[in-house]
Amino acid sequence: LENNRELFPQLDWIDETIPISRRFDDPYYSKASGIDETRHTFINGNDLPQRLAQTRAFTIAELGFGTGLNFLATCALWDDVSSPDAQLHFISFEQYPLTSQDLQKALSRWPQLDAGSRSLVDEWQPQFEFLDTKIGNTRLTVFFSDANVRLPQLDFAADAWFLDGFSPARNPELWSLELMRHVFDRTLPGGTFATYTSAGWVRRNLQSAGFAVQRIPGHANKRQMTIGTKLL
Ligand SMILES: C[S@@+](CC[C@H](N)C(=O)[O-])C[C@H]1O[C@@H](n2cnc3c(N)ncnc32)[C@H](O)[C@@H]1O
Repeated sequence: LENNRELFPQLDWIDETIPISRRFDDPYYSKASGIDETRHTFINGNDLPQRLAQTRAFTIAELGFGTGLNFLATCALWDDVSSPDAQLHFISFEQYPLTSQDLQKALSRWPQLDAGSRSLVDEWQPQFEFLDTKIGNTRLTVFFSDANVRLPQLDFAADAWFLDGFSPARNPELWSLELMRHVFDRTLPGGTFATYTSAGWVRRNLQSAGFAVQRIPGHANKRQMTIGTKLL
């Protein structure tokens, strides 16, 4: 059974606020500040403040939904900058969804995301194969499966990707060349990705998949991160 309860992740908590996955021995986000890292890495790394303000319809896809922090920070930006009838679809993949209780605990740290968090916790049903719902003004689809299995079966094209697996050394299956090729195939011409990692083999996989890749300064203690474009 793919969505067996045993797949719910076992967490440890630093200071009761930062969840660490026991399976991957890695935190869900930076110990310095999760929300600033999200903004720097994924939101600014994909130039979203500008692009979301200009769009009529936009699709963001993510590898690794985790606590939903990236998603909720994106929703908050969308509420601030989007034009009235514009549509945002956020598609994410999560093989080991948090329990509702852990999700709530993780998100309680971000009072500024409170409205979205409450609605996400209410809608959270990780016992199903996927979640497809509306959180605020954003459509959210989360596939509770291994991205390596589910992504190749899907037909969509993203304007921007958040590549947010655990560290490549600990979670290599979420950074493989084969998976990066599926990501590239599901990116619109002119579309982008951003990731916190600067690991050389991940950058090369993204290049081999077809992206024009660039290293830029990372958040806080991360010297470099990686962004890229599917050239027109
Ligand atoms: C760094 S965390 C993501 C943090 C998240 N974006 C957030 O905003 O909280 C990495 C996530 O990738 C998930 N993951 C690891 N391997 C996966 C796979 N093969 N398919 C789908 N998700 C996977 C982990 O369970 C974990 O939730």
